[in-house]
Amino acid sequence: MTFTAPIQMPGLALDPQWYRRAVFYEVMVRSFVDSNGDGAGDLSGLISRLDYLQWLGVDALWLPPFYQSPLRDGGYDVSDFHAILPEFGTLEEFRDLVTKAHERNMRIVIDYPLNHTSDAHDWFQQSREDPEGPYGDFYVWRDTDEEYKNIRIIFVDTEESNWTFDPVRRQFFFHRFFSHQPDLNFENPAVREAVFDTVRFWMDLGVDGIRLDAIPYLFETEEGNGEGEPETHQFIRDLRTMIDRDYPGRILIAEANQWPQEVVQFFGTEEEPECHMAFDFPVMPRIFYSLRSQQAGELIRILSEATDVPSGAGWGVFLRNHDELTLEMVSEEYRQAMYGWYAYDPRMRSNIGIRRRLAPLLDNSRAELELAHALLFSLKGSPFLYYGDEIGMGDNIWLPDRDSSRTPMQWTPDRNAGFSTADPGKLYLPVVQSLVYNYNLVNVESQLAQSRSLLHWVRNVIHVRKAHPTFGLGELRMLQTDHESVLAFVREYEGSGSQFGDAPEKILCVFSFAHNPVSVTIQMDELGGSSLYDLFGGGQFPTINEDGSVTLTLGTQSFYWLHVGESHFAGGRS
Ligand code: GLC
Ligand code: CA
Repeated sequence: MTFTAPIQMPGLALDPQWYRRAVFYEVMVRSFVDSNGDGAGDLSGLISRLDYLQWLGVDALWLPPFYQSPLRDGGYDVSDFHAILPEFGTLEEFRDLVTKAHERNMRIVIDYPLNHTSDAHDWFQQSREDPEGPYGDFYVWRDTDEEYKNIRIIFVDTEESNWTFDPVRRQFFFHRFFSHQPDLNFENPAVREAVFDTVRFWMDLGVDGIRLDAIPYLFETEEGNGEGEPETHQFIRDLRTMIDRDYPGRILIAEANQWPQEVVQFFGTEEEPECHMAFDFPVMPRIFYSLRSQQAGELIRILSEATDVPSGAGWGVFLRNHDELTLEMVSEEYRQAMYGWYAYDPRMRSNIGIRRRLAPLLDNSRAELELAHALLFSLKGSPFLYYGDEIGMGDNIWLPDRDSSRTPMQWTPDRNAGFSTADPGKLYLPVVQSLVYNYNLVNVESQLAQSRSLLHWVRNVIHVRKAHPTFGLGELRMLQTDHESVLAFVREYEGSGSQFGDAPEKILCVFSFAHNPVSVTIQMDELGGSSLYDLFGGGQFPTINEDGSVTLTLGTQSFYWLHVGESHFAGGRS
């Protein structure tokens, strides 16, 4: 497969708000391309496919941890934050990745699990052996397992307590996640300094941003629930101050799986900012809920919740990632409904969530895949794609834990899906060979050859989004409709920057979750009399009535993105 080399490689464009316009792509180094035939993906492999990612329209890569690690939690169990796992490559190759990405105006965001380490980390080994030594106080040690009773257990499938007894030190240590992942003691200034050092280390290597893994959990208190304690927010503020001073233009992304009012706190305030971005955990499950319930109500409610965020803050919108589809942010009643629709086989569940990929979740329905992506690309925030979802890759629920959706990227119908030349038995995980998602059928090469493939569709939608900065920078205003299956909002942006002119832009976005065609009347008040043009093809739609209402018909599970106003701003032919 070759992708046309870009005509010019101007390097990184200077844009302090780049993250609000960017399309992000999460790619696990281990899963993408194996360059040396040892059965696991590596940095060189990833570098060799930057042309593909550029062709797709990706602006920034998010790399889950690739550090030294025993890999008992997909690399989120780090044993040395300043070293790369040898099977993934070297620091030199990482530098090369940053350079080659930057040449393509593509940014690199790395993942940093700062809350904990692997128990194989030298800090932990020293801490357990020498309580009086320099690392004695690096972890949260206690004589009993009685403290922090308010703190919930996250990995309910595997852990019974957040405390584990260490036979060497003969004390209990605290852990929010697996018992092989002891939490660092953030009360200790030396720990905080070590974290700053690691951030500086990677910033100096040229990364453009850091995803702060499990960020709510840094500090524990007896009164609180250990999620977003005041001390945790203070720490993030200090980190942000350092970044703004020493590395302006680089970003912090919060992974905070919490309710809207709590997540927004990780943006901080105008005067005291914290993270530039935060993942939108509350919206994500509601997209899936709407698809099956045929009701837009839950999405409308969550999108209408008034959450003031500082200027410059950006949401990270996503459908799937390397973890289970978490159902922590929905009520018990809705959770049960979601399990019924999406995890009818118990093997599909994991902790409080569903460990499946996007295409199998949506039963490989092209209409649903398009509808879900249309939401991903037009809601407020920047979209985060998960590798392989652009071709509708399947999963393997017979693999343990979240490995079900971390299988090798499917490039071609050849051996190992073109991922690796290794003996198939040697792969870090087997390629998907199920009836519907077999790599013989679902792969990049074959989708490139079909102009109507999902891959071409996703690429097109990415390019349409990128032609309209309103999607990244504009406001979102919910609209009244007279149909319970329909979600309608206007994205509006006062600034300039659209490639079609400097006038303020308004885009009407309409989505129907109904499993049959519908007719809907939408109320757009002050926009009465305006024309509507399809953003994809430029085709003219009914003009909005003088009273601000407009009636549209939508096919089964379909959507429109309509430019409001003059036709030549729509972008397509008119
Ligand atoms: C985050 C990661 C997850 C990991 C956990 C513990 O939630 O996304 O994959 O298991 O942190 O580090
Ligand atoms: Ca390899």
